[in-house]
Amino acid sequence: MMDLNLEKLKELRNTIKPIPLPEFEGVRYPAVISIRTKGVEKALQDIKEIQSRDSDIMICTYPKSGTHWVNEVTNMLITNKTELDTSSKISTMLEVIPDLSVLDALPSPRLLNTHCSFKYLPKKHIENRCKIIHIIRNPKDVCVSFYYHAKSDPVLDFTGSWDDFFEMWMSDKCAYGSWYNYEKEMEQAEKDFPGMIFTCYFEEMKKDSKREIQRLANFLGIPCTEKTIENIAGTTSFNNMQQNKLDLTRVVSGKGFIYRKGEIGDWKNHFTVAQNERFDVQYTERFKDSSYTLSFEQSIIC
Ligand code: A3P
Repeated sequence: MMDLNLEKLKELRNTIKPIPLPEFEGVRYPAVISIRTKGVEKALQDIKEIQSRDSDIMICTYPKSGTHWVNEVTNMLITNKTELDTSSKISTMLEVIPDLSVLDALPSPRLLNTHCSFKYLPKKHIENRCKIIHIIRNPKDVCVSFYYHAKSDPVLDFTGSWDDFFEMWMSDKCAYGSWYNYEKEMEQAEKDFPGMIFTCYFEEMKKDSKREIQRLANFLGIPCTEKTIENIAGTTSFNNMQQNKLDLTRVVSGKGFIYRKGEIGDWKNHFTVAQNERFDVQYTERFKDSSYTLSFEQSIIC
């Protein structure tokens, strides 16, 4: 694990000046240090050139889809740890690491993660057919979750209202670009590289986390007892993760902003009727051919 030096992170957080989000190929990216210093194109190029190992596991998600959750679960599965490892997600997030050679020091299997789209993943990771874990969440809840995150995170330079954020989403201007493009690219990759990508649904994790953790363990080829699965599900429960005093966003900013509600359907408390109608039109139009089946309501799946 990399040395995170919390004092340095706190200092960075307090001194970082919001800047307009850097753009590349029409997509905006968070103004994290590595992107500020290298530029988006070089940062993405560096990711593509990572020396992947056969045992690497990559968590690939559109932001706010449950990345931290699935990262903790996977980390517990592969390390046999019985506690949360709150630094593991941020310290292995490819686009925020200025010098990716630090990854060379990590023991195998390395658990890496990124929100960059499939086409920017390390070349060797794909060539070697290394494992990819992808979690998808209904985009209305993603949008609301992203709104709160953007308000709290200086690298996302957002100070507007919910209505402003909604318009950003509708015009694909959020960081990392369009949710539709991201998920459609991932769906295509599942077809192109059968067996390489494990997709799970946030809503299914909520409904039956033990079942989903068992499926994930099977995908990773890790034998697990029922007790282990139960322990992991309990340790990674929303309450446990939200109350974890070591949550990095809490340590660094004084107020955690990753775990807000962890619910299905909170979008109903934010979308106006008109916004919902517009969203549905866009969703139907842009996602009509997708085989991903998403639940927007708690009641449908419980
Ligand atoms: P909310 O903002 O709706 O609360 P990411 O890790 O990709 O940034 O996603 C964060 C979202 O996943 C947050 O959603 C967070 O609460 C939710 N989440 C994280 N861990 C969770 C868990 N164990 N159970 C339910 N939701 C969880």
